[in-house]
Amino acid sequence: MKVLILGATGLLGQALMREWSGDEVVGLGVDDVDIRNAEKVWEVIVKTRPEWIVLAAAYTDVDGCESNQELAFAVNRDGAVQVARAAKNAGAKLLFLSSDYVFDGTKTSPYEIGDNRNPQSVYGRSKAEAEIQLLEVIPTCCIVRTAWLFGTGGKCFPDTILKLAATRPLLDVVNDQRGCPTYSVDLARAIVQLCRKSAKGIVQVTNAGDCSWFEFAREIVKGTGLSTEVRPVSTQQMARPAPRPSYSVMSAKSLASYEIIMPTWQDALGRYLQERSG
Ligand SMILES: NC(=O)c1ccc[n+]([C@@H]2O[C@H](COP(=O)([O-])OP(=O)(O)OC[C@H]3O[C@@H](n4cnc5c(N)ncnc54)[C@H](OP(=O)(O)O)[C@@H]3O)[C@@H](O)[C@H]2O)c1
Repeated sequence: MKVLILGATGLLGQALMREWSGDEVVGLGVDDVDIRNAEKVWEVIVKTRPEWIVLAAAYTDVDGCESNQELAFAVNRDGAVQVARAAKNAGAKLLFLSSDYVFDGTKTSPYEIGDNRNPQSVYGRSKAEAEIQLLEVIPTCCIVRTAWLFGTGGKCFPDTILKLAATRPLLDVVNDQRGCPTYSVDLARAIVQLCRKSAKGIVQVTNAGDCSWFEFAREIVKGTGLSTEVRPVSTQQMARPAPRPSYSVMSAKSLASYEIIMPTWQDALGRYLQERSG
């Protein structure tokens, strides 16, 4: 199988490049191809002739998207649609990365794949609109919704907490947003399996279990042996430009239908801390 990964220099992209073995994998970053450039996108797809395209490229700065709406939609929606059109014309299968932020967070039980999208942020809207338009271009495309991604090789929540904990005695972390942390390595492994199983439609992929950012931070600090105190605060106390869903736990049923079971986020965090220190 030949695979083209777009966004190969990102957090997930790097994990995909490391974890994918046994197939011919070509990974490209924004310097190789900007997904806003339709001609260039077509050129690389014709040149690489992939069976699968994994579209991990995105403008992922959730707060930045609020002040750069045009860029958010140009990359996350229009760029993705351009890749989908090219994939369709070249006869390639497409796996697109989407987000738990397509939901509004008003539910109190895990979001199912058929639940209404009602994004509250620009980033969430750009992903929700991409999902809808991609399914119109390629009804059989695979949309992988993930959340709270962490891993080595880029900025992520555990990395930030570890750096802050090393210099501060007290950290305030929000306790009224609940979601599912997801290790880039585990997500990459699931994506490889989904492609091998010719997955179609929306599939929700996160590590198992859920927590608040405060609970996540407490576990991160516990794993280091540092004495930093982690204090729960409310979203209101930590105002940020983009609204976040207060609850974005996603059901694992769609993933289980491919017989893929994810490890717990605590297990994943332990492996991340080992990888980071090694
Ligand atoms: N991070 C999360 O918590 C999270 C949660 C849910 C869903 N997701 C989704 O999962 C996917 C992977 O996320 P990630 O955390 O790995 O993202 P990331 O680390 O920010 O990487 C994004 C990748 O996209 C590339 N890129 C940015 N703009 C581009 C453009 N115009 N054309 C081509 N490439 C471009 C970046 O290149 P450079 O590195 O060179 O800029 C980088 O390779 C994204 O679709 C993201 O929206 C992420």
